Amino acid sequence: MAVRGHPALRLVLRQTLRGYGGDTQKIRQFSGVGTSLVYEEYGDPQKVVVQRETNIPGLKEDQVLVRMLAAPVNPADINTIQGVYAVKPQLPSVPGNEGVGEVLEVGKNVESELQPGDRVIPRVNALGTWQTHALAASSDVIKIPSGVDLVTAATIAVNPSTAYRMLKDFVPVKRGDTVIQNGANSAVGQAVIQIAAALGMKTVNVVRDRTSIRELKEHLTGLGATVVVTEAELRKSEEVKALPPPRLALNCVSGRSGTEILRQLTPQGVMVTYGGMSRQPVTAPVGALIFNDVTLRGFWMTRWNKEHFSHPERLHMLDELFQLAQGGQLRPPDHTLVPFSNFQEALKNAMPSEGMLGKKQILIF
Ligand SMILES: NC(=O)c1ccc[n+]([C@@H]2O[C@H](COP(=O)([O-])OP(=O)(O)OC[C@H]3O[C@@H](n4cnc5c(N)ncnc54)[C@H](OP(=O)(O)O)[C@@H]3O)[C@@H](O)[C@H]2O)c1
Repeated sequence: MAVRGHPALRLVLRQTLRGYGGDTQKIRQFSGVGTSLVYEEYGDPQKVVVQRETNIPGLKEDQVLVRMLAAPVNPADINTIQGVYAVKPQLPSVPGNEGVGEVLEVGKNVESELQPGDRVIPRVNALGTWQTHALAASSDVIKIPSGVDLVTAATIAVNPSTAYRMLKDFVPVKRGDTVIQNGANSAVGQAVIQIAAALGMKTVNVVRDRTSIRELKEHLTGLGATVVVTEAELRKSEEVKALPPPRLALNCVSGRSGTEILRQLTPQGVMVTYGGMSRQPVTAPVGALIFNDVTLRGFWMTRWNKEHFSHPERLHMLDELFQLAQGGQLRPPDHTLVPFSNFQEALKNAMPSEGMLGKKQILIF
């Protein structure tokens, strides 16, 4: 895990991270002034996102005051700020869709079991996690088990949850079945590899070629990937041919890459598109539709969460994911912890450069 920034800052950050681990940590007094990232117009995140001091008003009776601890920068956050995402928040807006915080204060009419010191993640979309302190209705946060490491807690709600739902909800896949995916080194892709391995499924993982392809293949294989191939290797790979043909394809990239994984599906297979990283449409070969009767579906975690706002299945899913994480079967993606004040660095590193993305950027407060 890389910790970037000035050496003094690195020391503070390490001490802070150590502090976060202990259950005996004291709840700090809150002065009423927090710091938020804000954007007033859609555009290039590095230009439109600024840091502001914010006065946090008094706590209402049904609210909790949360001190944010960690929040990732996901592609959807970037696209939302750019104004090209399906969700367009009213401006000015505080970005950040997921993260983990600690409850500092609990309103006197809050009926849930929330206590100061509990760790929580947002239940609602676009809570605005890129701020040091947030007031939220108690029903808008979910208490998580103690002892979950900070990065896992901050990143569980979007990507591992998406992977989990796509593996469970579309095709009744069972142990020994094969799942194929592109964008396999994305955070979602890495969660797919690990959850599928825990469920006894085999995975064919397609990634873009790069100079460090050997290391990437080793890394994904270490997570439990059955086969890792580049886009150019997919059609010819003997290892892929030796596996049962997949009934489920998970499409992060779309464009040509999506077409290639669609071609691998068994008749009546299903391709679930959840990302368009290539910015190209999904193109289905006519033969795949006519002769193989494949189905094209889409998945959006935000919609699933809205439809399952307080459904027990949502808590069940999170429980299972936390259990996998605590059992060492679900590790967070490769990441860099970035102090909140260095948010510009996190935004810069979260933007694709020469088409390749680096490590997941995680803001630490
Ligand atoms: N539908 C949903 O509910 C849902 C939920 C979560 C995420 N998503 C979407 O899933 C995608 C991945 O999210 P993430 O957080 O897992 O991302 P991430 O960890 O930042 O990884 C991004 C992935 O996209 C690939 N990529 C980037 N530019 C590309 C291009 N031009 N052509 C092909 N591949 C490219 C990267 O591969 P390289 O290493 O080769 O650059 C990497 O595998 C995003 O589109 C995100 O919006 C959707």
